[in-house]
Amino acid sequence: MSTVVLPRIMEIGGGSIVHLPRVLQSIGSKKPLIVTDKMMIQLGYLGKLQSILQDHGIESEVYADTVPEPTAVSIQSGIEKVKGGLFDAVIALGGGSPIDSAKAIAVMGKFGGTINDYRFPRQVNKQGLPIIAIPTTAGTGSECTRFTIITDEKTDEKLLCAGAGFMPIAAIIDYELTISVPARTTADTGIDAMTHAIEAYVSRKANPYSDSQAIAAMKLIGPNLRKVYHDGNNKAAREAMMLGSTLAGIAFSNASVALVHGMSRPVGAFFHVPHGLSNAMLLPAVTRFSLESAKTRYAECARALTFAKLTDNDDTAGEKLLTTLVDLNESLSVPTPAQFGMDKKHFFAVVETMAKQAEASGSPGNNPKIPTIAEMVTIYKQLWNG
Ligand SMILES: [Fe+2]
Repeated sequence: MSTVVLPRIMEIGGGSIVHLPRVLQSIGSKKPLIVTDKMMIQLGYLGKLQSILQDHGIESEVYADTVPEPTAVSIQSGIEKVKGGLFDAVIALGGGSPIDSAKAIAVMGKFGGTINDYRFPRQVNKQGLPIIAIPTTAGTGSECTRFTIITDEKTDEKLLCAGAGFMPIAAIIDYELTISVPARTTADTGIDAMTHAIEAYVSRKANPYSDSQAIAAMKLIGPNLRKVYHDGNNKAAREAMMLGSTLAGIAFSNASVALVHGMSRPVGAFFHVPHGLSNAMLLPAVTRFSLESAKTRYAECARALTFAKLTDNDDTAGEKLLTTLVDLNESLSVPTPAQFGMDKKHFFAVVETMAKQAEASGSPGNNPKIPTIAEMVTIYKQLWNG
């Protein structure tokens, strides 16, 4: 059995941001709160969005204080704004962080409490304010997932919050908004999207629906990830990555992520590594650990990503997946933990805690090979030893 949850409306394609007024109208929103960040102001995206709304006589207000890798404190003022009761929808504009912030603001603004009250394994199915998500990276896929991740800064823990209540009612998937994303962020977010598709496909919660979305996502992402990193103006590649990222989001939201994400969140929380980058660091080692337990599934990933030929047998395709993931990190200039500037002593001092936090998130339990704490510690240490 599987349950599929999706946004009610998805507007897809270059320039589709102009359909925002129509989307608001269809959900009966007359006074939305725009949740975004300073970068969206600098890039002029917020101004563009506001002028589209003004042209249609729609009044809006802005909360632009969201931060990368959002924390409980960073969303608090947004929650207070919503508690004022003036708004009937939340428009999330930006990368994964503003969208994740907006999700928590939309739910907690209506129902109160602290972010700890909403953490996994609780299923948050009650609807906060309706969310219209407009991603500007490709991407976290947050525009079409039933998850949000907020860091509790008291414990330095990234809390996974899950449930239909966090699913946007609508998503506007306009790849033109991703053209100006810098190369580093393009690579990090692209690897995140690829990881979503792979993990959804090998997950113990995979189902025919999530499989179809994951395979479609990999076919779009595999041949285009390097292209967008090396030439951000390649519109066809940007469009493929944007759609691939959304499909990958749909895939994992209706299956799950697995060990890479489980182990990646604590690294991000302790060492302030961007989410896609900590995934990239872990992806080769975790795939090597898991490969034998789902050989056929990983081989299918390699073929869909075009890392292996359709005629390669499962052993060859699996090998090609491992080598290509290592090569990919190199060609996308993914730093090692040392190159990123992580403190090795500190890292080794917290590996056990990180492994325990990973396990508590539930994600490693969806992996084809479920690791022990000791096995996760070994994988973490491999990041330093190669
Ligand atoms: Fe992710």
